[in-house]
Amino acid sequence: MSDKKYSTLQYLDRNESQYGPSPKCYEYLKNVGIEDLAWYSRDFSRGVKSKLSERIAKDFGFKESQIINSYGSEDILKQLIHRYVSRGEKILIPREAWWYYKKVAYEVGGFNVEYPMVKGEIDGVASYLYDIDKMIQIYERERPRVVVIASPNNPTGNKMDSDQLYKFLDVCRGAIVMIDEAYWGFGSTDNSYVKPYIDEFPNLIICRTFSKYFALAGSRIGFSFAGNNLEELKGYTTRYLGYNLVSENLAIIALDDMPYYEKVTKMMQDDKEYFYKEFSKLDGFTPYKSYSNFMLVDMPKEIRKDLDKFLKERNILIKFLDEEAFKTETRITLGTQEQNKYLIESIKEFLKK
Ligand SMILES: Cc1ncc(COP(=O)(O)O)c(C=O)c1O
Repeated sequence: MSDKKYSTLQYLDRNESQYGPSPKCYEYLKNVGIEDLAWYSRDFSRGVKSKLSERIAKDFGFKESQIINSYGSEDILKQLIHRYVSRGEKILIPREAWWYYKKVAYEVGGFNVEYPMVKGEIDGVASYLYDIDKMIQIYERERPRVVVIASPNNPTGNKMDSDQLYKFLDVCRGAIVMIDEAYWGFGSTDNSYVKPYIDEFPNLIICRTFSKYFALAGSRIGFSFAGNNLEELKGYTTRYLGYNLVSENLAIIALDDMPYYEKVTKMMQDDKEYFYKEFSKLDGFTPYKSYSNFMLVDMPKEIRKDLDKFLKERNILIKFLDEEAFKTETRITLGTQEQNKYLIESIKEFLKK
C-alpha cells in the first residue's frame, strides 16, 4: 500500500456524506429552470408554505400547517430556543452532546442542565444508552422549559427506542420537547411513531434534516413535525415569500429516490460491522454501537496526538474529541468503503511502528 493514497484531505470528521446525494439531484441541477432561480415561490397563495411541507404532510398524514421548514436542524433548534426560552430559563440536554446544544441556550440568557448517558452493550458491542429513570428524575427536579433528545445522538451514535421515548414524553408534558432526528435513516427508517406521538403530545417537535441520510448538507434544508401547542413557532418560522426552491426540489428528488439511499446505507452498515470487528482486535480500542453515519471509538490517550498527525500526513481527518465528556474518544465519520478500509489499514500501520 502506498503511504499516501489521497492527494487531497478526506474529511471523515464532520458527519458529512462521502457518497453524495442521489445522482438525480445532479441531473436536476444541470437543467434547473428560471422559475426556481429568479422567481419567488407561488405556494403561499395556494394556502401552503411550500411544495416540500405539502409533500411531507401528505406522506405522513399531517395537516400542512404542522410541518415547519428550516435551513437544516441547526436553524430550527436556534429558532425554537430563541422563541421559547427567556433569560434564566433552563434547557435540558444530553451531557454527551453535539457542541451546539451546549451553546444555544446562552444566546438568549438561558442555561443548560444535563442528563448523562450510561455505558452498556448492545448485541455484544459497547454502547452508550439513555438512562430514562435518571432523565425523569432530573426533569422533575429541574423543570426545564425545553428538553432536547437526540436520537440517534451525536457523537455517541446510540438511539432511543420508542417505548423509552413514550415513557419519557409522558412525564415531560409540561415542557417543550424537541427530538433531533438529524441522523434518522442510518439505523432504521421507521416512521410509525411520528404521527401518533405528535398527535398525543402537543408540545412535541420532531426535527429532521436532509443533511445526513439524504446527503444534502450544503443545500441547508430540513423540516419538523410540530405538535398543536407550537402555534407561535409555526408563525415565527413561516416565510411568506417562500424558501430556497432549489433546495426544496433537491429534497423532493431525494425523497423519491429511496432505493439509492438504501443502497448507500447498506454499504455503510457493512462498514460498521467491519469497524466493530477491526477496532475490537486492536489493543485499547473500543468501538461503540452506531445507528448513525459515524462511529465513536475509544482509543489509548497516549497515541492520540501522534495518530492524528500520522493520519493527517495521509490526508485523512477524523475527529479527536477533546471536551468534558470525551477525553479519549474519536468520532469517525463513515466514508466510502475504500476510505474506511484505508483508514483501518493506516491505523494498523501506525500501531506497528
Ligand atoms: C445532532 C445534530 N443535530 C443537528 C445538526 C445540524 O444539522 P443540519 O445540517 O441539519 O443543520 C448536526 C450536525 O452535525 C448534529 O450532529
